[in-house]
Amino acid sequence: MKRIIVAIDGHSSCGKSTMARALARQVGYIYVDTGAMYRMVTLYALRHHIISPASASSDLRISIDEEALRRHIEAGDVDVRFRLDAETHAPLACLNGELVEDEIRGLEVSQCVSPIAALPFVRTFLVRQQQLMGEEKGIVMDGRDIGTTVFPQAELKVFVTASAQVRAQRRFDELQAKGEKDVSYEAILKNVEERDYLDSHREVSPLRQADDALVLDNSHLTREQQTEWLLQRFSERTAE
Ligand code: DC
Repeated sequence: MKRIIVAIDGHSSCGKSTMARALARQVGYIYVDTGAMYRMVTLYALRHHIISPASASSDLRISIDEEALRRHIEAGDVDVRFRLDAETHAPLACLNGELVEDEIRGLEVSQCVSPIAALPFVRTFLVRQQQLMGEEKGIVMDGRDIGTTVFPQAELKVFVTASAQVRAQRRFDELQAKGEKDVSYEAILKNVEERDYLDSHREVSPLRQADDALVLDNSHLTREQQTEWLLQRFSERTAE
């Protein structure tokens, strides 16, 4: 069977990662969540006071010391990678050797990540690593610019979308399940809408559908239905 690159792009909180991870597990491919890489750089910047975080509200007006971040990246101080969980073999986000899987999913990082992901030197730094990861193919990568910029030659490209309300509800349910109970649905919806806007309007690699991507609106699909749909498309492409 032909080994391919699967590029999955789409809006935030639309279930891309879940379906990408499930496909990779079923077909024995490497899974890379590129959003986690942007989140790790954001966490690094927060920890080193390169970002002055937003106030308690969910607004995205933060200030970033871009030159400081550039210096840290150029000096090789920001080591972003994944470590495989010993039992489940799931890739876990690892920043400078420390597992940060939970920390990068919190609201503080979520509020600051879009402006960090809009910085051209951050994108150059991470896109280069992503391209190296895909050199051998056999990879499922999800993000915003995978089918357009990272792997324009990917054999299977999917663009996933769902309404902002459905996505906010999903993120809200996830946070509730993790015990983060002091975040309101309205604050999350605002954050989802603001990130959609910033991700699609930034100058470098804005979120947009590749011309040859298949579109999947999963507002009314179960996880199982999505995974089944993706597996079908994968089988078609690898059989060609
Ligand atoms: O998928 P996510 O919500 O974890 O992504 C976090 C942020 O990173 C989001 O604001 C968009 C940005 N991102 C990006 O610009 N390019 C990618 N390939 C992946 C994520």
